[in-house]
Amino acid sequence: MNFHRIITSSLLAPCLVLFSLRAHAVPAEGHKIMISAPNHYAVEVGQRIAQQGGNVIDVAVAVGLSLAVTAPYYASLGGGGFALVKMNGPVEALDFREVAPRGANKEYFQNLPAGSSMNGAHAVAVPGFPAGLFELHQKYGKMKWELLFTDAVAMADKGFAVTGGWVNATENEKDRFDPAGLAAFFKKDAVSYKPGEVLKQPGLTKALMLLQRQKLKGFYQGEVAKDIVDSVAAGGSKITLEDFKAYKVRWLKPLTTEYEGHKIYLMPPPSSGGVVILSALNMLEKLDVKSKPLLGADEYHLIGEIEARAFRGRVLLGDPDFHKNPIQFLTSQDYLESMRKSVNLKKTVAVKAIAEDEIKESAETTHFSVMDTEGHAIALTVTLNGTYGSGVVSHKFGVALNNEMDDFTTKPGEPNMYRLTQGAGNMVEPGKRPLSSMSPTLVEKSGKVVMSLGAPGGPRIISGVLQVLYRTLARGMDVDSAVQAPRVHHQFSPNILFIDRQKFAPEVLTELRNRGHKIDEGWMGKVYAIRLRNDGVLEAAFDSRGEGGAGGI
Ligand code: DON
Repeated sequence: MNFHRIITSSLLAPCLVLFSLRAHAVPAEGHKIMISAPNHYAVEVGQRIAQQGGNVIDVAVAVGLSLAVTAPYYASLGGGGFALVKMNGPVEALDFREVAPRGANKEYFQNLPAGSSMNGAHAVAVPGFPAGLFELHQKYGKMKWELLFTDAVAMADKGFAVTGGWVNATENEKDRFDPAGLAAFFKKDAVSYKPGEVLKQPGLTKALMLLQRQKLKGFYQGEVAKDIVDSVAAGGSKITLEDFKAYKVRWLKPLTTEYEGHKIYLMPPPSSGGVVILSALNMLEKLDVKSKPLLGADEYHLIGEIEARAFRGRVLLGDPDFHKNPIQFLTSQDYLESMRKSVNLKKTVAVKAIAEDEIKESAETTHFSVMDTEGHAIALTVTLNGTYGSGVVSHKFGVALNNEMDDFTTKPGEPNMYRLTQGAGNMVEPGKRPLSSMSPTLVEKSGKVVMSLGAPGGPRIISGVLQVLYRTLARGMDVDSAVQAPRVHHQFSPNILFIDRQKFAPEVLTELRNRGHKIDEGWMGKVYAIRLRNDGVLEAAFDSRGEGGAGGI
């Protein structure tokens, strides 16, 4: 089955072509290193680094930097993220998520106007993106750090032709920008760029060069940190230079589970993704969903019911340095069995919200994947949270800043921008990381990584990664077909089955409604995935729900 296929030439684009707008024509198969990323610039930069002898990490760092230039609405030096990495040792998880300023606390948003955790200076948390890329390179990079910046700096300095996706994202956020944002991303008098026109970013060029030459000091302890602190201080933020100095990444142990003869490595808290996906995979297998007709009402009904139950415990999670996460309880066979038993094939059954005393235990984002045929792999998801994050852009260096504070429980009982109602363990505390849904994921077979995937999309990341794992590993679909296949999303609250817009057959919809589902047609997460086939060829796909590129050498 093939819903979508990219055809292509595997020749590397010469430099002149690199910065111009053109139709995607990149290979979806590779024999050495493969990249799946949210735009063609990123893929071409990655190909060039691979061609120069860079390893998977060198490619990933250069891809990340190029996205900070070409897609700053979701990948900016002012954001943060997670990565799952497999190089020469065991699979590890890197957390470079943004942290709350030390001057913030549980009451921080109680007395601020509605929307303060989404828009403007209060929404900004201390960025982790530069520290994450640097840590990856320090530990595993092969090429010189400085060389990985060549394309990103050139695209910021000489400019690159903006894509339709860039114009769409930027235009939609116009009203949220202050004069610095308008100056960075619009022409004189706030006139919009058109697709194909060239955007230069002189401030960002300097910020990148400081990071290139002075490494982390150039971002966290110098002029750039000062510019960001000054820019948000004007809007009342509590972020200080000390917060920047204190920022640290952390290595975590991934969660693991067996699924359909594979070992799945998942992101642990402060991501909720790993716990939810692990529980859902268990229920998919035990309820034998793969025996139902492909893409039919039974299959989608069960996936929706399973997702709702897997999401039920999300409310109990938070940053592990501040909160005890009941992972053992939520992933125990007893708990999962009780959830499985409440599923009925013929009708939707709402389970009640999880209560604290039920626990029996002691005590706008983007993703890219890079993988080689040797089994080295990285799955890396970065975010500013919303498109262009807080809407605040640092005044001198033009760095778009996140609104990750909205991922905390800012006002108990009130849903956040993704309609997630969150728990007490996720309240704002000084130096704490907000709970996330980002789910970079690696899959191993007989000790070798055979798949790397992830997505943007808030909680819909989780349902996207889950369904691509199910479709490839349990239903035998190729990676591209699995990514494009119609999806459902249920996050427990609200009790709605969200489905892909215009992708469902009317009779499947009627069947789902007959079983009691309240249905809402809309958007889904955009999955980027690479798989090593049994014949040794790397196969990559990007989601046709958005822009992207897949290519390699
Ligand atoms: O960490 C999280 O869960 C969110 N900040 C992710 C936001 C996201 O995926 C936006 N993409 N469309």
